[in-house]
Amino acid sequence: MREQKDYVSGQELCQRFGVSRTAVWKAIGQLKKEGYAIDAVQNRGYRLAGMESIYGQNELSSRIKSQWAGRRLHYFDSLGSTNAQAKLEAEAGAAHGTLVVTDMQTAGRGRRGRDWSSPAGTNVYFTLILRPDCEPDQASMLTLVMALAVAKGIAQVTGLQADIKWPNDIVVNGKKVCGILTEMSLEQDYIQYLVTGVGINVRRQDFAPDIVNKATALEMEGAGSVNRAELIAAIMKAYEESYQVFQATGSLAKLRDSYDSMLVNRGRQVVILDPKGDYEGIARGIDDAGQLLVELPSGEVVEVYAGEVSVRGIYGYV
Ligand code: BTN
Repeated sequence: MREQKDYVSGQELCQRFGVSRTAVWKAIGQLKKEGYAIDAVQNRGYRLAGMESIYGQNELSSRIKSQWAGRRLHYFDSLGSTNAQAKLEAEAGAAHGTLVVTDMQTAGRGRRGRDWSSPAGTNVYFTLILRPDCEPDQASMLTLVMALAVAKGIAQVTGLQADIKWPNDIVVNGKKVCGILTEMSLEQDYIQYLVTGVGINVRRQDFAPDIVNKATALEMEGAGSVNRAELIAAIMKAYEESYQVFQATGSLAKLRDSYDSMLVNRGRQVVILDPKGDYEGIARGIDDAGQLLVELPSGEVVEVYAGEVSVRGIYGYV
């Protein structure tokens, strides 16, 4: 019925699903309760309206078609933070690929201890639980794998050009639309689990004064009405594909070209904000481990590791 633009009669629904008129009537009532806006017109039948606002467990699980990423799904109307919830679930034994999604967060967290504004009905907030078969020092690569998947998912669903600002911000028209926060739990030298949290700004909103010049949202950049469940489903599909490639080599060797083709910093002059001293160079792309290759004025190419530094364009954010 989701694909059907016109009305579909009650009788047609009975035939298609092999159920009685009463069963159709009851199912329509249940969908309305879950927030689906269904127009019911006598002698014409039923039609789904306002698809872009529909969100929740059913909408997500009916759209997610990946094999393992997001197939186990826990949706909440409200949470403190999906990363915090995902860690609780991981501690309790949640499987690799379990996805936690919420409509709003009351304690959303960004990198470097910052808050992540998380109003209801506006954005995407999710966290994927992973139990990767890799060494702790390879884990940071999985954040880049997620960045690649988010950029691909956004481009596919909205038609916008989504770029990556190394290592893992997603940028549209030079402004940030998405941030990623990965946290891991180690047991001796072994990754017990890893959670990758993603926040994507979707609908028009007022940003705080400190970020208003560098943040934007998909619908503010001309995406049209975005169905958040469709976006998450596209990201899960893209993530799963890229993860498989990552796992085969334990590196980003086979994902580099794809990542670099979306890298907004590539070929640009950047400033590396390093605790040991800032320096400038031209970003050339990433290496197999996800480090940024920066060409210094001397011609020497250095590898920049994401953990210690941040990167800015010489004129601002990108
Ligand atoms: C950043 O600072 O750029 C990272 C932001 C990450 C925000 C997401 S929203 C879903 C998940 N839950 C959180 O509390 N944070 C991440």
